Amino acid sequence: MARKKITVVGAGNVGATTAQIAAGRDLGDAVLIDIIDGLAAGKALDMSESAGVYPFSGSVVGDMDWQAAAGSDIVIITSGLARKPGMSRDDLLAKNAQIVQSVCCHVVEQCPEAFVIVVCNPLDAMVYTAARTTRFAKNRVMGMAGALDSARFASFIAQELGVSCADVAGVLMGGHGDDMVPLPRYTAVAGIPLTELMPPDRIAALIDRTRNGGIEIVNLLGYSAYYAPAAGAVKMAEAILKDTKSVVNCCAWCDREYGVGGAFVGVPVVLGADGVEKIIELELTDDERKAFSESVEHVRCLTAKIDELL
Ligand code: LAC
Repeated sequence: MARKKITVVGAGNVGATTAQIAAGRDLGDAVLIDIIDGLAAGKALDMSESAGVYPFSGSVVGDMDWQAAAGSDIVIITSGLARKPGMSRDDLLAKNAQIVQSVCCHVVEQCPEAFVIVVCNPLDAMVYTAARTTRFAKNRVMGMAGALDSARFASFIAQELGVSCADVAGVLMGGHGDDMVPLPRYTAVAGIPLTELMPPDRIAALIDRTRNGGIEIVNLLGYSAYYAPAAGAVKMAEAILKDTKSVVNCCAWCDREYGVGGAFVGVPVVLGADGVEKIIELELTDDERKAFSESVEHVRCLTAKIDELL
């Protein structure tokens, strides 16, 4: 069987880390694309040389020319501006919409069969931009945010309880913004509901930290997070390439589901060889439903701006 081909667009911190993890996990041949001369080629060469220490079987190449990406199975879009201290994700909208649109024109030309995983911000609106530009079937276009936000939630829970992160499964819905909706009722530690293990005030504190998880890192580093975002993107790619049917929180097209009526927003989904194969519909309380609707409305305001801009 031919090796799978994963193209990562943008050779900055998120893109390079994504390619490195994907190659190291033997997902296939990785291609890094960047508009800066030498950046993708240099980082890819360095990564491919690392196989001499910790071996992997795929190749890693970097290029400015989209022909290198031809026929990719998955395209992960990380290019665009990232947040600096004092900026919200929404501040990036206009510039990144243009970047995602231009990237997606190349995707249509060179990778017409690919699944597209968007990572750049504001996430949900950029997924909409990718779908609008590629016109790919909705199951093939998705965004990485819930995998990151729920990983942050899980890691905070694991630290607080002194348990393995591997045992924590966090559920989280809504847009990738301050109004994301972590769902402690559906979050469990080795099957034990979180609500049985932690008092409400501590759960509330960890939810707050999760909502602000991105800015916490921006304030420390002076730029945006990349290890956990890259890991989240690779997790999604792996689920699709290996048809694992993993349940992942991700930004997916919701029509009748949750009564959304047509928007890309974070929900728990089953990821497999057909991309977003199923959206899992959970029973929500009135408060949870209200918080989710507010988050969807926020996303809709951003996508309306995209329609004005592009
Ligand atoms: C974050 C950025 C990637 O949440 O949105 O860290």
